[in-house]
Amino acid sequence: MFQRGQRAQPDAPAPTAGTVRLRIRRYDPDRDPEPHWETYQAPRQPGDRLLDALHHVKWYVDGSLSFRRSCAHGVCGSDAMRVNGVNRLACKVLLKDLGDEVRVEPIQGLPLAKDLIVDMEPFFASYRAVMPYLITAGHEPTRERLQPPEQRDRYDDTTKCILCAACTGSCPVYWVDGRYVGPATIVNAHRFIFDSRDTAAGVRLEILKGRDGVFRCRIRRWPASNSSSPKTRRAGAARTPCTGATSTCCARP
Ligand code: FES
Repeated sequence: MFQRGQRAQPDAPAPTAGTVRLRIRRYDPDRDPEPHWETYQAPRQPGDRLLDALHHVKWYVDGSLSFRRSCAHGVCGSDAMRVNGVNRLACKVLLKDLGDEVRVEPIQGLPLAKDLIVDMEPFFASYRAVMPYLITAGHEPTRERLQPPEQRDRYDDTTKCILCAACTGSCPVYWVDGRYVGPATIVNAHRFIFDSRDTAAGVRLEILKGRDGVFRCRIRRWPASNSSSPKTRRAGAARTPCTGATSTCCARP
């Protein structure tokens, strides 16, 4: 029975047949002038994900390691990180697919806060700018707003974005100029522009047409390693009238 104020400790890890070597880029703004690499060993069971290895380090080796995670099932988008040079969700990627040594870094293009945590505010500011919510005109309806399946299908892919920022954090244009709206914002603008119930497509298109909008995208020149997304890989697949330049979407399958 736990006493008041006592912290729960996870059970000790089960014996394991193999281990994985983690090279993790660490940075503590209160102590470190620059980021640096540290190396850890973690057990590797069949079916383990990178998040399991990070938990092992955090719980049993070095409690100061900082990273975000919440759902652990590829839903919340908290744990996007750069894994062996490609942005992935730590809770979705299997250790068996990463080799015996795994390099783990924060995603690029956003200010580094601590260890694997970046400041997401610039990303969400850009997202908010395209008004990612339904805008309608006229009187309040007396029943739900119905929509035929074929109209719903037009934006089905872009409803699946989980705002993990893996796509935006792998965008070279965004790395050099954070004013660019970035792929996730384009994806979420698309979701409402092509919604037949919405009436503000023109306003969103004006925003996307601007200096920092879709025409800065150079996706067709991206190397394959930078266009990877943690879930489905749709880079270059969603050419639409609104993007004119398309999106790199980490939408759920
Ligand atoms: Fe929620 Fe990975 S922890 S998506």
